[in-house]
Amino acid sequence: MPSTATSLRRVSSIADTRVAIARARSEGARVGFVPTMGALHRGHLSLVERARHETDAIVMSIFVNPLQFGPTEDFNRYPRPLEEDARLASEAGADILFTPSPEEMYRDGRVTTVSAGPRGEVWEGKVRPGHFDGVLTVVAKLFNIVQPDVAVFGRKDLQQASLVQAMVRDLDFPLTIVVAPTIRETDGLALSSRNAYLSKQERNDALVLIRSLRAVAAAFAGGERDGRRLQQIGRKQFAAVPAVTLDYFAIVSRDTLQEEVRADHGSAAIVAARLGATRLIDNVILGEDDQD
Ligand code: PAJ
Repeated sequence: MPSTATSLRRVSSIADTRVAIARARSEGARVGFVPTMGALHRGHLSLVERARHETDAIVMSIFVNPLQFGPTEDFNRYPRPLEEDARLASEAGADILFTPSPEEMYRDGRVTTVSAGPRGEVWEGKVRPGHFDGVLTVVAKLFNIVQPDVAVFGRKDLQQASLVQAMVRDLDFPLTIVVAPTIRETDGLALSSRNAYLSKQERNDALVLIRSLRAVAAAFAGGERDGRRLQQIGRKQFAAVPAVTLDYFAIVSRDTLQEEVRADHGSAAIVAARLGATRLIDNVILGEDDQD
């Protein structure tokens, strides 16, 4: 990561954030936005780089959003290395870092949530009821606070990106969504803040996710188009790693997330699996030259 440390403006109230952004706008800056939950890694930082290509002033938010965690999920133990994150955000070229408290974001007497509807109830939403309502609610609030020209999301969370794009269209948010490619370790594991939970053995077992996706991408490149057969090719990889529990493996439309009987260029293979208490997700887009 090139060290281009800017002077990072840190703000934690909505009012201060609006003032800082208004100042940048008054200087003519186009505003880019990268929402995160922190524990930053190269995946998050690649989104800042992408935003810098598109816009002049970059706002990053770090907020571990209680609304999107289920009652038995890892909200309390989610890593929060704030000082290290601020350093990384600054080095990556963020200009404003917004780190609100839960009380700042969710005031007493709150009545409104954004519903993700049926597209939020499949795949991740089936295993994590209410998760995407929580995501869309916080993202809508953040869009209203930051009012960016461009917001960048990672393809790593394909269903999330699809739902955010749908919300922007449905609710007429005046901004452009960019979906950026998944950043991986050299062995193929998709970077994730939750990788920190993995033991050495689990870290090794976790490679079955990318192995399964690559097996499917290779079969697709070889001409296989039958959705069911591609799915079987992916699932088969998991038989060799009994410590990993497969939640789902599917061939879907990258836009609607609906399962596809026949795969096409641009279809996605999506996977979710559990290793002990840790749940990982990943995907690849079929027929793309850069398999991320
Ligand atoms: P978080 O998991 O912190 O991710 C923030 C952004 O980084 C998301 O857009 C995610 O897709 C992207 N990202 C994560 N891992 C990536 C990788 N390996 N390569 C590229 N991008 C990656 O997603 C959330 O937070 C939250 O749901 C949020 C949108 C902030 C709402 O609370």
